Amino acid sequence: MSDLPVHVQKNRDMWNRYATDWVEAGRRSWETAEITWGIWSVKESDVHALGDLGRWKGKDAVELGCGTGYVSAWLYRLGMHPIGVDITPNQLESARNFQSEFGMEYPLIEASAETVPLPDESFDLAISEYGASIWCDPYAWIPEAARLLRPAGELVFLRNSTLSILTSPDIGASTELLVRDQRGLHRVEYDENSVEFHLPAGPMIRLLRECGFEVLDLIEIWPPDEAQETRFDYITLDWSKRWPSEEIWRARKRA
Ligand SMILES: C[S@@+](CC[C@H](N)C(=O)[O-])C[C@H]1O[C@@H](n2cnc3c(N)ncnc32)[C@H](O)[C@@H]1O
Repeated sequence: MSDLPVHVQKNRDMWNRYATDWVEAGRRSWETAEITWGIWSVKESDVHALGDLGRWKGKDAVELGCGTGYVSAWLYRLGMHPIGVDITPNQLESARNFQSEFGMEYPLIEASAETVPLPDESFDLAISEYGASIWCDPYAWIPEAARLLRPAGELVFLRNSTLSILTSPDIGASTELLVRDQRGLHRVEYDENSVEFHLPAGPMIRLLRECGFEVLDLIEIWPPDEAQETRFDYITLDWSKRWPSEEIWRARKRA
């Protein structure tokens, strides 16, 4: 494991330290029947990021940065065969505990989503909700997702919007000021403990296309009417009603 890039080691160590803080939220998501996205729990039935859900039955999915594993649990309930990949042992332990608590077993693999020890072209869907999508270098994990997907396989990921990052000073709260340059935006380090990646739309589209994807959609997320403030202090409801705080990307590997 010591040959992992420094950003992967830092992020793994940080997630190992904070894994217990995510158990309660993980349980709420495991308990929720309907697929929801992001901090505002936007319903899949409102955003259609996965398209017609019936078509996934019996298909193979890989979740890149699965954390507590609830996204894969939702896919399992759709009749898919998910595999969860995560670099952090304590997060995988939470996922395993939830698997026995909720009676759903699917494989969990301890690995970086930048170098996944699984064969080429073995999945129909690669998915990430705040996993590889922000904690891995897109120039490493997007080609890896392309390698893992079968032709016509789909890549779906949720991440912070670029605008939310551009308006977040180092303390990490979105403001109404542009406090970062978009030019060159890629690696973002709020402190020395972790490293995030936030590639703007132009370079992201170029990267996806270079990796053999066609971009199907970029869904900007708006909090539903009934949304309340979240436990995440980096973004407020008021801000998120005015500008998209999160976005979901959909891409398909060219057949
Ligand atoms: C916010 S969680 C997202 C997962 C899930 N949606 C959840 O909330 O439980 C972020 C996850 O990304 C994982 N992660 C960070 N760097 C990673 C890497 N290089 N490869 C795989 N997983 C990584 C962390 O261990 C953590 O479990």
